[in-house]
Amino acid sequence: MKKKIRFVAAMTLVALALLSTRYYMVDLPVWHFFGGGKGPDPVTLHLQGEFVESNLGLAEGPAGSLTVRMIAQQFVFVPQCIVVPAGVRVRFRITSADVVHKLSFLGTEYGLTAVPGEVTEATFTFPRSGRFKIPCHEFCGAGHYAMRGQLEVVPQDQFASLRPGERRNCEPR
Ligand code: CUA
Repeated sequence: MKKKIRFVAAMTLVALALLSTRYYMVDLPVWHFFGGGKGPDPVTLHLQGEFVESNLGLAEGPAGSLTVRMIAQQFVFVPQCIVVPAGVRVRFRITSADVVHKLSFLGTEYGLTAVPGEVTEATFTFPRSGRFKIPCHEFCGAGHYAMRGQLEVVPQDQFASLRPGERRNCEPR
């Protein structure tokens, strides 16, 4: 009898531990269904609001402020390649269209977590130019290991000479 109780207790703990790391899979759709949450709805992300396709990538605000908007989804980042000037503060705003993804800018100390139904915001300054891979660091499904984007940090004068479309993202065109 005691053994049984111990077993049930252990299983309950395991279930709770799993739920605590995967809560968003259950909670968020229900939460959004009842109209909760101020963040973007993962389902309509591409169709309306801040994260429509034409608004993704780097945008230049008044006074030269720079904002990068990205979507993480199984199993790509959109856009796949972003370009920013070195030594300049860049604000990142990212959300997810499905599950939680984590991007790390390999070779730098920076990272971001993309959560469905929420916008994660952070401001980074990349001191030196170079190419940095952006692998996904949160297991997000079968294609997780192939999920990677790219960050190109270029000198400021080179960035200034790019055409607006080339600043928005650096995807092959
Ligand atoms: Cu996205 Cu792993």
